Amino acid sequence: MSHGFETLAIHAGQEPEPRTGAVVPPIYQTSTYAQDAVGAPRLGYEYSRSGNPTRDALQECLAALEGGRVGLTFASGLAAEDAVLRALCGPGDHVVIPDDAYGGTYRIFARVTQRWGLTWTPARISDVEAVRAAIRPGETKIIWVETPTNPLLGIADIAGLASVAHDAGALLVVDNTFASPYLQQPIAHGADVVVHSTTKYVGGHSDVVGGALVTADTGLGQELAYHQNAMGAVNGPFDAWLTLRGVKTLGVRMDRHCDNAERIADYLTGHPAVSQVLYPGLPEHPGHETAAKQMRRFGGMISFRAAGGEEQAVRICNRAKLFVLAESLGGVESLIEHPGRMTHASAAGSPLEVPADLVRLSVGIETADDLLADLEQALG
Ligand SMILES: Cc1ncc(COP(=O)(O)O)c(C=O)c1O
Repeated sequence: MSHGFETLAIHAGQEPEPRTGAVVPPIYQTSTYAQDAVGAPRLGYEYSRSGNPTRDALQECLAALEGGRVGLTFASGLAAEDAVLRALCGPGDHVVIPDDAYGGTYRIFARVTQRWGLTWTPARISDVEAVRAAIRPGETKIIWVETPTNPLLGIADIAGLASVAHDAGALLVVDNTFASPYLQQPIAHGADVVVHSTTKYVGGHSDVVGGALVTADTGLGQELAYHQNAMGAVNGPFDAWLTLRGVKTLGVRMDRHCDNAERIADYLTGHPAVSQVLYPGLPEHPGHETAAKQMRRFGGMISFRAAGGEEQAVRICNRAKLFVLAESLGGVESLIEHPGRMTHASAAGSPLEVPADLVRLSVGIETADDLLADLEQALG
């Protein structure tokens, strides 16, 4: 029997614990497990890097929420990204990367995997033909996209890019961090692997760092699971439990993030201190139609450009009070930041450099009028 998203968020992988009936999956804070005999681990658990019941509960839940078959969780989003690249690529391979992406993702390609002989080409991921043109036949193993992108809120056509990837014998990896599985399920549109920084909306409370991979291909899932264990960047049981606690309310949180972001995007549009608002929910956004096709709603992230340039952008960030000046996103509290000097400083001087007048908002779930009043005084 298939269930709705909110039911899966609360129940998938989370049957009451058989011995006591505990409704919430216990935190199995153990590194190892007593074995019944040599070579006979109980229920298959032998060591917590290889398997832990609390992590298993989270992994099963995330696989269900993304409509996949295998879910794997990691110590951070970047650890999850690293595992995909090690599992799928080797020296001489090529990856098409987005022209706009989280600075840390760019740094992996530019500073880490490049040294193993992995080459990359940035392409405009909102343009399917530009991505096709960036493919190197026989060499390209992955098309990597974020949608919406961080921080410019660009939109990639997941189904269009899946067919470009598959025509070239490559896989499509989609970083679904900004949307969350509640708003967008890339596997249903043809993506091969979904990546998350669960630090963000999935965890949702800014209290735990983590990452996840989900795939519907069980063979690929086994390969990724092999790397999860072999490389060892797993999340601990308490972090898995905190993330799972957050996941239960993902649907209701995302709806409120979207409600608040829609009001703020409308408020910023036409404000004299703002030269451009980047929010895929606005009909004038170039990716609006594609976003409407593949997303349930348009999310809680908004970026805007300050009419007065970099200095004004920095001033707005410094003046905000309720919007906390901080990196990260996706928590219940609203955050503001200057990507050029903060989250995306590692992309400075690269093809992924972000505009200096850009301000990024992670719109939280506080009372919308209070958020608008804070922006009013910060922009003023
Ligand atoms: C879109 C996106 N992907 C991946 C990451 C990396 O995740 P983590 O910080 O959990 O390693 C981030 C972090 O900000 C992100 O915004």
